[in-house]
Amino acid sequence: RNRLSLVKQRTFAMVKPDAVAHMGEILKAIQDHGFTVSRMKLTRLSEEGAAGFYEEHKGKHFFDPLMQFVTSGPVLALELVAENAVARWRELIGPTDSAKAREAAPDSLRARFGTNATLNAVHGSDSAEAAAREAAFFFPDSRSCRRPGLPTTACF
Ligand code: TYD
Ligand code: MG
Repeated sequence: RNRLSLVKQRTFAMVKPDAVAHMGEILKAIQDHGFTVSRMKLTRLSEEGAAGFYEEHKGKHFFDPLMQFVTSGPVLALELVAENAVARWRELIGPTDSAKAREAAPDSLRARFGTNATLNAVHGSDSAEAAAREAAFFFPDSRSCRRPGLPTTACF
């Protein structure tokens, strides 16, 4: 591994309404795979919020069912920190379609807790840029770690 791979990266994760009942098992997997939870919020997406969060998918055939689904109950929003967090979280959640995930990656979170291509249990950012945008969407009150005189332990 080179020096860059040792630099901590952050990603944005979301437990969707179909899997919030399994949040304990999902947090266990997050911990077991070496991620640190740096922010976490149980909340609900409004219709406007869901449309903004999934803006890149507006106009696609699955957009309306996706909006119905993600606004149907609470979601658990998480910012995760680890080396190579974006790719490692995508690996842990598995393929988009939970039915296909059960074939290709049976231990993945989407295989374990999702149902199909829409009800797929968890979200993961697809790039560091998306992670920054998505985390700012759910955690707009992000504090700076550079507060003179305050300890920075566990500050991400
Ligand atoms: P996408 O960004 O393609 O997948 P991923 O979440 O793996 O990055 O799609 C975003 C979400 O849209 C996906 O998690 C579930 C929903 N979706 C559908 O409902 N049907 C589909 O056919 C696809 C591709 C996605
Ligand atoms: Mg995506």
